[in-house]
Amino acid sequence: MAEALSREGIGRLFFGRSWAQPAETRIAARRARVVCVASGKGGVGKSILSTNLAVLRARLGERVLLIDFDVGFANDHLLFGLAPRHDLVSVLEGRTGALDAVVPGPEGVFLLSGGVGRTELVSATRRELDRLFRALAPLEARFDRIIVDHGAGLSYATLAQLAVAPTLLIVTSHEVTALSDAYALFKRALAANPKVRAGLVINRVPSRAHAESAWERYSGACRKFLGAVPELVGWVPADEAVGASVDERKPLVLARPESAAARAFEPIAAWRALDQGAGASAFYDQACAALR
Ligand SMILES: Nc1ncnc2c1ncn2[C@@H]1O[C@H](COP(=O)(O)OP(=O)(O)OP(=O)(O)O)[C@@H](O)[C@H]1O
Ligand SMILES: [Mg+2]
Repeated sequence: MAEALSREGIGRLFFGRSWAQPAETRIAARRARVVCVASGKGGVGKSILSTNLAVLRARLGERVLLIDFDVGFANDHLLFGLAPRHDLVSVLEGRTGALDAVVPGPEGVFLLSGGVGRTELVSATRRELDRLFRALAPLEARFDRIIVDHGAGLSYATLAQLAVAPTLLIVTSHEVTALSDAYALFKRALAANPKVRAGLVINRVPSRAHAESAWERYSGACRKFLGAVPELVGWVPADEAVGASVDERKPLVLARPESAAARAFEPIAAWRALDQGAGASAFYDQACAALR
């Protein structure tokens, strides 16, 4: 079972020194840049994308925290081969601090799990989310990158985060039902957050032709009805290597780096919008404000 890192432990990992030293002697930390990963339809590949993106961004030298906001139905710990003792519900209930719920994963990535079988946050109230977001806010000073892997659809928690997210990756398959839901998600995100840099990832496509045809339909509808189109950040082929990496509980880019799908994640991790905004803004403070 993965142990939650103590403050001391994380402090040593990040800074090679004690976490508990006086504030003035700490290395000044910038705020993490945040990217939300969301979809309308479920099961389209958000968690596969989020876990692989986390590894690839860590390889670029970022201190990466993946927050699994699919609370109660979290998967990212399984995809990392971890069994964290604490999760977002423990943080909400005040049984642990956010930092103490964070566990180390592969390639120097850190994970804050959403927990399994705990439905407390599925219909979270404004007060609960406010408390949780406030508890998460200090994490922003400890990481360069926060990737938020959302549950499918638009829960209150997801919407509050999309309303203030600087960047959003929308995941879909090439199928018309998933595309329609991805359109609805983009529409809602744009209405709440007109400044969001949104990108689309078309996952599990049988061929380039399927990806191109899906993009044509999706971008056409967005342009016509919304007057705005997300960027096409990439498409990922349907690849048996993905299922094999899930069975191995290891991110694909580690388990099968030569596979076609692993190769397809590389340009997605290099999406230029991920580097926008020096120092970035106080994401969870803003998310609290978005609850009102
Ligand atoms: N490119 C791919 N090729 C083949 N299989 C894939 C691919 N991407 C995802 N899968 C399969 O689809 C499953 C679901 O993916 P994932 O858990 O990432 O979806 P999700 O959008 O996070 O689902 P949920 O909405 O439940 O959170 C994976 O376990 C994997 O087996
Ligand atoms: Mg998921």
